Amino acid sequence: MTLRTELQRSARSIIERDSRVATGNFLGIVLGSGLGGFVESLSNVVEIPYTEIDGFSKTTVAGHNGTVCVGEIDGTLCVVLRGRVHLYEGHSPDSVVHGVRTLVQLGATAVIVTNAAGGVRSDLGVGHLMVIDDHINLTGSNPLIGTASKELGPRFPDMSHAWDPQLSGVLFEASAAAGVPTARGVYAGVPGPSYETPAEVRMIGILGGDAVGMSTVFEAIAIRHMGGRLAGVSVISNAAAGTGEPGSTLDHEHVSDVAVAATERFTKMIRGALATRDQWWEE
Ligand code: HPA
Repeated sequence: MTLRTELQRSARSIIERDSRVATGNFLGIVLGSGLGGFVESLSNVVEIPYTEIDGFSKTTVAGHNGTVCVGEIDGTLCVVLRGRVHLYEGHSPDSVVHGVRTLVQLGATAVIVTNAAGGVRSDLGVGHLMVIDDHINLTGSNPLIGTASKELGPRFPDMSHAWDPQLSGVLFEASAAAGVPTARGVYAGVPGPSYETPAEVRMIGILGGDAVGMSTVFEAIAIRHMGGRLAGVSVISNAAAGTGEPGSTLDHEHVSDVAVAATERFTKMIRGALATRDQWWEE
């Protein structure tokens, strides 16, 4: 089966469960660690477990609930991937991006990817939101390696403007206007699952990374490869290794707790952006 056929099967599985998705024209959202509670803000929700969608993998990490949630927020249809699969779980790069590829296949107007990330730049405080302006792929891999991806887009896709400047600006302004501490910056994607050493964090800072995390860059590449519109938000869940309080350590539970606490702030950002939807939404 070709990659395109697989995506069409996944898309059909979702449309069979909720026909609102059939005509595209929705906001795609990928929720990272701890942000799953965003779906509480949706109305008229239809929730579909990944296990019931042709081609989707099961997620395995604590805090990642694998479902597609379709619902409306302030009149805008959203298709939310609640929980993602990661490279560090042993999934292939193709599985990691299957969900976002399905969103683009379905005709998403834009896809907003979110994550929890360690703050590398010193002004990024715990709990702040960072709108992603650009990324650095430090995973050593790429979801477009191999011949199959050629069906979906160019062999050498341009990443000069991967993160949509207009939508990123809208998200930043909406968040700041709602009184949420918000920054903009560069997301460095690493494979994980070990956190970085302090020396690696210093390296990432020198390379131009402002925040570091274990997801998102493959999804960004895959979305842009298919010509989708992309924006992203990191919840700064901790000071990256070696940059916090002397003697402090990192653990996933704390990372998730901070993201849970930031869910309301993220929701404000999305609501604010949708309030000016007529200025940026392209059907
Ligand atoms: N490093 C990598 N990934 C992360 C971090 C971090 O400090 N925080 C949350 N995800």
